[in-house]
Amino acid sequence: MGNVDLNARIPNNVGLKEDRRLQRALEAWQPGFIDWWMEMGPEGFQADQIYLRTAVDVGRDGWAHFEHVKMPDYRWGIFMSPMEDGRVIPCGDFFGQPAWQQVPGEYRNMLRRIIVTQADTEPASVEQQRLLGQTAPSLYDLRNLFQVNVEEGRHLWAMVYLLHTLFGRDGREEAEDLLRRRSGNEDSPRILGTFNEPVEDWLSFFMFTTFTDRDGKFQLLSLAESALDQLSRTTRFMLTEEAHHMFVGETGVGRVIERAGEVMNELGTEDPDKIRAHGAIDLPTIQKWLNRWFSSSVNLFGGEQSSNAANYFAAGLKGRYKEEKYEDHVALEGAYEMQVPGSGSGGSGKGLITEQVPMRNAMNEVLRDGYVQDCEFVVGRWNRTLEKLERPERMYLPNRRFNREIGIYTGHHFDPEGNPISHEEWEAKKGQWLPSAEDLEFVKSLMKPCLGHGQIASWIAPPKKGINGNPFAWEYVRFDKASVGVGLGAEPSLTG
Ligand SMILES: [Fe+2]
Ligand SMILES: [Fe+2]
Repeated sequence: MGNVDLNARIPNNVGLKEDRRLQRALEAWQPGFIDWWMEMGPEGFQADQIYLRTAVDVGRDGWAHFEHVKMPDYRWGIFMSPMEDGRVIPCGDFFGQPAWQQVPGEYRNMLRRIIVTQADTEPASVEQQRLLGQTAPSLYDLRNLFQVNVEEGRHLWAMVYLLHTLFGRDGREEAEDLLRRRSGNEDSPRILGTFNEPVEDWLSFFMFTTFTDRDGKFQLLSLAESALDQLSRTTRFMLTEEAHHMFVGETGVGRVIERAGEVMNELGTEDPDKIRAHGAIDLPTIQKWLNRWFSSSVNLFGGEQSSNAANYFAAGLKGRYKEEKYEDHVALEGAYEMQVPGSGSGGSGKGLITEQVPMRNAMNEVLRDGYVQDCEFVVGRWNRTLEKLERPERMYLPNRRFNREIGIYTGHHFDPEGNPISHEEWEAKKGQWLPSAEDLEFVKSLMKPCLGHGQIASWIAPPKKGINGNPFAWEYVRFDKASVGVGLGAEPSLTG
């Protein structure tokens, strides 16, 4: 099972050629996927050669393969981590029983829903990011964007395989629907809110890959604990790709912060107008982007108190982040202490009261705890960049109650520290905390392609190192002669 068949029409390590029916069904889905990719994938670069990594093995060295390929020719494959001998269900009511190799009838609908919801985010993010290539700050960043995009495409393949192999005809219909929904479309939107928000500038892209892909990481970690073995093995391999997406995000934001710090030092001022006039993004503006994308992504974990979450855990469909670090894998006892908005008129932040929530009903919040802590570490690393530049300013992570649209804090207002505030105060101050129309326009004004070898836009510092041992100033994208300039206005040059 560990062996990868790379020459097959659909590269895989799931023994696809032994199941002709399934193979035919997936091959029938393939042209629709390519049509979707051409229509909704990165616009303007499909004929260019991109320096991409391709999975050739699921082992440790599986990512060693890099080459220039046209994106439509990328070898999207179906890969699973190897089967673990004697794997048992790690949590819930069936704790300790052998992991499922088949979907039990009573959990069929729940599992399908879980898989479809995860699957839907994969093409959604590609759609959200499809125009970004046209304003890339460097060839290196352009390549990283496309690497993320093709891997989200591969994640879609991974999930579609599960739908086809586990759910028969229903699964095939769901797989068709995944190519039919469109991010931000009024009639047929993607399932989750954040995945319908436009990602129109690179600061948003880097925040998205930091905070929204990190939500993905935690959802995948929770599915990696699933009783359903194929879901667990599929998501474990996806996590290896997710790590790169978060690297792109964290280092991307870090480089924007670094540039802001450098410009402040160079000009000897913190005045945002002067930083902006110098073509960099001031720290208060970066903070607003952070607030927006963090708060949006925090919603993706769902309600703080959730009977769905309790049912998923009970059935072993999802586990906690690193389930093995818990002592009690059944979680029928114990409570989670939660701050909930107190009752009062007007829903305008009446103060918080502490409530004891049965542990299983708090599973979304338990996962969110792991996420928030992970995000804190990221912000800490960004602040080290400022420390190194001897800047006194610091970035911060807003409280999880800030700016929520799902869960118990919805309809109440909280400041970034999580203190309840009135509706009036929220209206008066939200422009200090979240991007205003003017901020959006400013950041947009900086988004111009910068695609010569070794060139970099004014608002971001170059990376510490290039990809796979290559220097930053390198041909990460080889433009197709016929398409150069199409929608770009930038002729690649050998400067730098
Ligand atoms: Fe993904
Ligand atoms: Fe991702």
